[in-house]
Amino acid sequence: MGKKNILVTGAAGYIGSHTAKYLLENNYDAVLVDNYVLGNVEAKDELQKIADENGAKFKAYNADISDREKMNTVFKENEIDALVHFAAFSQVGESVIDPYKYYINNTSKTAVLLDIMRNYGVNKIVFSSTAATYGEPEVIPITENLKQNPINPYGQSKLMIEKIMDDAKIYGLKSIRLRYFNVAGASSDTRLGEEHRPETHLIPNILYSALAQKNGENGKAFKIFGNDYNTPDGTCVRDYIHVEDLARAHELALKKLFNGGETSYYNLGSNSGYSVKEVFDTAKKVTEIDIKVEIAPRREGDPATLIASNKKAKEELGFEPHKTLVDMIQTTWNWIQNDKWKKH
Ligand SMILES: NC(=O)c1ccc[n+]([C@@H]2O[C@H](COP(=O)([O-])OP(=O)(O)OC[C@H]3O[C@@H](n4cnc5c(N)ncnc54)[C@H](O)[C@@H]3O)[C@@H](O)[C@H]2O)c1
Repeated sequence: MGKKNILVTGAAGYIGSHTAKYLLENNYDAVLVDNYVLGNVEAKDELQKIADENGAKFKAYNADISDREKMNTVFKENEIDALVHFAAFSQVGESVIDPYKYYINNTSKTAVLLDIMRNYGVNKIVFSSTAATYGEPEVIPITENLKQNPINPYGQSKLMIEKIMDDAKIYGLKSIRLRYFNVAGASSDTRLGEEHRPETHLIPNILYSALAQKNGENGKAFKIFGNDYNTPDGTCVRDYIHVEDLARAHELALKKLFNGGETSYYNLGSNSGYSVKEVFDTAKKVTEIDIKVEIAPRREGDPATLIASNKKAKEELGFEPHKTLVDMIQTTWNWIQNDKWKKH
């Protein structure tokens, strides 16, 4: 049997590029589809090199997932065995100000993509869902059977896709939705990393403050929003996962589908969490820089603690994260100090 060929949407972005790399290094061929609205051409070029080094086939298309003409070409030119679907917008704050942007790009365009898949008889998809579909859960750790009750349009836009995928069982669609919590880190070999513009995630933002200090720039102090939460040190606690662990989880989900697995959904977390202060203190140790910090008021809509139960993913996918918080901070620090793409 030949290699499976996986269409990865959003593969020029952060998690998509790391997952495509993992697939190319682990006996899969891959097809990248990205419209580069947020993606990096440099990631695509690096993936081509990784494919060549691993004797894998790799093709890249500059296309919107809902562009039927271009997507018809993609499906006609390639025998696709399954999709991993990352392409989306994912900024919570922006989704509150401009909800249509999220419902159109994330929800409507995914519906079109699923229809195109159906036209070509492709019925397997692994989908990037999110902890934001749970809203503010009353029970911690969060298990998959808790009610999904998003509190912002981003979370809604992703939950709607999950519901569409439920209804699409009638067409024979088999979907695995992976609900991520906080993703961090860069590839251990520093070939790929996180390049969001703007960057809204905690770990890179702490490290950009550290880098500014290292470079002698008089940057602003890093802000911790609230230190009076009901948590051990008063700062919010979140569940973090290394992007390379996450990439591996996608391959396990694909394997499950190829082995006849049915539609399902899994939290991808670690069953434990770190407070903002713990992350900050670890970043100071890793960088050996006394990063400036300031305590700011709480932000609206930030629950005190969000931790994922990883029991179901462990039992059914055989997935457990291997990497530590130090790994996440160290690989990000390596990446941003040697950033060849110069997006920040
Ligand atoms: N980063 C996190 O911590 C996190 C947490 C939970 C869920 N997620 C989900 O994971 C996925 C990937 O996140 P990321 O951090 O890698 O984001 P990213 O912005 O780095 O990557 C998304 C990619 O999709 C592309 N894209 C967007 N809309 C498109 C469209 N209509 N057609 C074609 N390409 C399109 C962008 O150009 C970009 O390259 C998203 O679906 C996001 O909602 C991310």
